[in-house]
Amino acid sequence: MRILVIGKGGREHAILWALTRSSRVEKLYCAPGNAGIAQIAECVPVKESDFAGIAQFAREAKIDLVVVGPEDPLAAGIVDYLEERRIPVFGPRQNAAVIEGSKIFTKELLRKYNIPTAAYETFDNYEAALAYVRKMGAPIVVKADGLAAGKGVVVAQAVEEAEKALHDIMVAQVFGEGNNQVVVEEFLQGQEMSILSFVDGAVVRPMLPSQDHKQVFDGDKGPNTGGMGTYCPLPHIPQSVIDEAIETIIKPTAEAMVKEGRPFRGVLFAGLMVTESGPKTIEFNARFGDPETQVVLSLLETDLADIFQAAVEGRLQEVDIRWSDRSAVCVVLASEGYPGSYPKGVPIHGLDDVRDSVVFHAGTTTKDGQIVTEGGRVLGVTATGATIEEAREKAYADVRRIRFAGAHYRSDIGLKALR
Ligand code: AMP
Ligand code: GLY
Repeated sequence: MRILVIGKGGREHAILWALTRSSRVEKLYCAPGNAGIAQIAECVPVKESDFAGIAQFAREAKIDLVVVGPEDPLAAGIVDYLEERRIPVFGPRQNAAVIEGSKIFTKELLRKYNIPTAAYETFDNYEAALAYVRKMGAPIVVKADGLAAGKGVVVAQAVEEAEKALHDIMVAQVFGEGNNQVVVEEFLQGQEMSILSFVDGAVVRPMLPSQDHKQVFDGDKGPNTGGMGTYCPLPHIPQSVIDEAIETIIKPTAEAMVKEGRPFRGVLFAGLMVTESGPKTIEFNARFGDPETQVVLSLLETDLADIFQAAVEGRLQEVDIRWSDRSAVCVVLASEGYPGSYPKGVPIHGLDDVRDSVVFHAGTTTKDGQIVTEGGRVLGVTATGATIEEAREKAYADVRRIRFAGAHYRSDIGLKALR
């Protein structure tokens, strides 16, 4: 098979890395890719948003399957576009990708089908939202309706913080003009858990559960980011709770999408909170998670190309999907200033000194033969071990071998599993 992956982050690097282990893959391409991806796939200088360019390349290079990584092209309808041109593609169509693209759509779907989630109200009127937040009090959660690169959610510990978030989204419109509706929801307390599943309509094949670390600093302090690190699986969460999440949230949601005439095909990502009264939905994403993919695919034993192929041929139910019983930890190295503004083009040293980890590149490029930073999240150093502890030790030993000016990372990835 000749496979083209769309995207340029750590998630796409991990997908391609998993595909390098496939016996079915003849050639791998990535559009546009990054400096790390270029070591295992041919990078094609076509942007994720350039659907015509992607279709043209797919035809010329005789691509057998396109795999879409990020949410933006999915929300903009890349799957519909390629399918109309008879190019095989793995990912949800636009009418299903809305499960990530609109938080209001998803909250209404969950309410309609009685799927556990935080209580909420939606607003397009600033004064009304303000009055509601003041009535409910803190802690309270404010979310921009549309896509916001993981930064559209404020978990407010004080009412003033929630008021500021409403002002930013609804008045200043910092996530774009028109992206000014909000969901205001109940604060859920508990352990977070991400479950990604391969989905084709009502067929749901869950992957191993993982946990992200959204906030930038140790101890879950500071602003939210796209994700500072992950581990997989979650030894401190009983299998019965994981099964409950699959049976009461993920399968009913896939079935609800079918009933709504929006069958989902692709990777459905459930962001969950394990509360005292059971697992509840925080959000759904229409794609692999980043950096969840880095740890989850590190433990996949089945040929990933087989799974993709089965999904696009309607045979997802039949594939045997096997997982390693080891553990994986991914530590993200970020640029100075991230998740705020950050410099680019900073030289990265020590990549060749890494011993026990796979370094997935998230935001890198090559300048004058040197690998330099290009994004806020730069690298995801990922190791496996017999336990989370062992994987942590290996990953952090390698993190310390890599250096670039201003680099920062969390030192507590995976610790929640050990307490
Ligand atoms: P989201 O982009 O919806 O995943 O939200 C980002 C992060 O905010 C989540 O990973 C949670 O840590 C937190 N969060 C979102 N909604 C809630 C909620 N209702 N209660 C508590 N924390 C939340
Ligand atoms: N790590 C969270 C996400 O991919 O949305």
